[in-house]
Amino acid sequence: MSIQPAGRDSFGSRFGVIAATAGSAIGLGNIWRFPYVAGENGGGAFLIIYLLFILAIGIPVMMSEFLIGRGAQRNVFGSFKLLAPGKPWYLIGLMGVAAAFMILAFYTAVAGWTLEYIYLSLIDGFSGMNSEQLDVMFTEFRGGTWRPVLWFLLFMGLTAFIIMSGVKNGIEKYTKILMPVLLVILVILSVRSLTLPGAGKGLAFLFTPDFSKITTSTILEALGQAFFSLSIGMGTLITYGSYIAKNENLGSTAVSVALADTLIAVLAGVAIFPAVFAFGIEPGSGEGLVFITLPNIFQQMTGGYFFSLLFFILLGVAALTSTISVLEVIVAYFVEELGLTRKKATWLSTFSVSVLGIMCALSWGVMRDVNILGFNIFGLLNFTSANILLPLGGLFIVLFVAWYLGREKARDELSNQGMLKVTYMPLFLFIVKFVAPIAIALVFLQGVGLLKI
Ligand code: PHE
Repeated sequence: MSIQPAGRDSFGSRFGVIAATAGSAIGLGNIWRFPYVAGENGGGAFLIIYLLFILAIGIPVMMSEFLIGRGAQRNVFGSFKLLAPGKPWYLIGLMGVAAAFMILAFYTAVAGWTLEYIYLSLIDGFSGMNSEQLDVMFTEFRGGTWRPVLWFLLFMGLTAFIIMSGVKNGIEKYTKILMPVLLVILVILSVRSLTLPGAGKGLAFLFTPDFSKITTSTILEALGQAFFSLSIGMGTLITYGSYIAKNENLGSTAVSVALADTLIAVLAGVAIFPAVFAFGIEPGSGEGLVFITLPNIFQQMTGGYFFSLLFFILLGVAALTSTISVLEVIVAYFVEELGLTRKKATWLSTFSVSVLGIMCALSWGVMRDVNILGFNIFGLLNFTSANILLPLGGLFIVLFVAWYLGREKARDELSNQGMLKVTYMPLFLFIVKFVAPIAIALVFLQGVGLLKI
């Protein structure tokens, strides 16, 4: 049952809320980004810091976003305008919209790669290739012009199509079907990977912490990854929160989504690292890890054709349930603040994101010589959004809840105006007032080199 003010689209059921929100959280961040970032940052020790950030910072930030959005019933910019009239807090909203542009651009470029790999799986394109050949295949594809761009545009089109259909009939309808399937497939793939000879080494890499590998930049990477993976820090969950019915439990929704997201990231690690080690591949091999390693495994295992196809379809699906959540941030903003129709807002945002996104898709091709601070365009957007904009956004979001909105309003929203027991309130307030802001600020300043402890 949903209780919602008239005239605004919303999620229609509890499962719909979880599917949509977990759909946003679970994506390329879990299956593509987590394994290679963990791989580049020492594996097990990274995982522990990551888990700590999810629990101590991620969940409270997520609850803060939910309560802001559901309280205000607006897009990310409008929420701050409404809750803090005449104050500059709306700048957080603008930063969120900017982050949405950047994330959607580079993220959809990778999502486009999954379409190429679905196609390659379909034509049995990996069969008989060794890991070097698969590496070359990926590098050549990614360095091309037409294919990365066309796949990018196709993926943007799919995203726009769902968003145009609305919240209940678009976002909710598709995520409710797609998310359960994703889980089943990942479990199957993990089991397969675990039964490969030499799998133990991969598990040891993932689960045995070696703290000598931890540096300040590793800690920032873990924080950035936690924010990125949970879709927090830019208002995705403020926007989705504004579609959640007034009788849903925001605290338990946040915990369920964070757990599901973490479980999927770890499962992805379990599906990938044993295989990486079993086939003697470098765990820190960057953005190509999933696109080189997995085809290698698939083409050697029984039923590989089938699993490969399924895996890349599911990678695409995971990406799609996330890209829609990012596009929705921009579309909701355009609709509510600029007064556009949903259709026009979707076209406008899709077009403008595509300009940036095409540059990302060409970052290894014709634009490979563009070098900004040591990054190509893709790398720059990837790093800036996850490691800078999301933590900063998260910082301001908790500061807003703790020091502007205040205890009463936060409690009213989290407890559904007193209908639910919220015994966690003192802990929540302590975290959003002190722990999260201080931790985010320290990690952030250290990570970007502005502070040396
Ligand atoms: N959480 C998504 C993932 O892990 C990515 C994302 C980031 C989505 C930020 C929305 C906002 O793939």
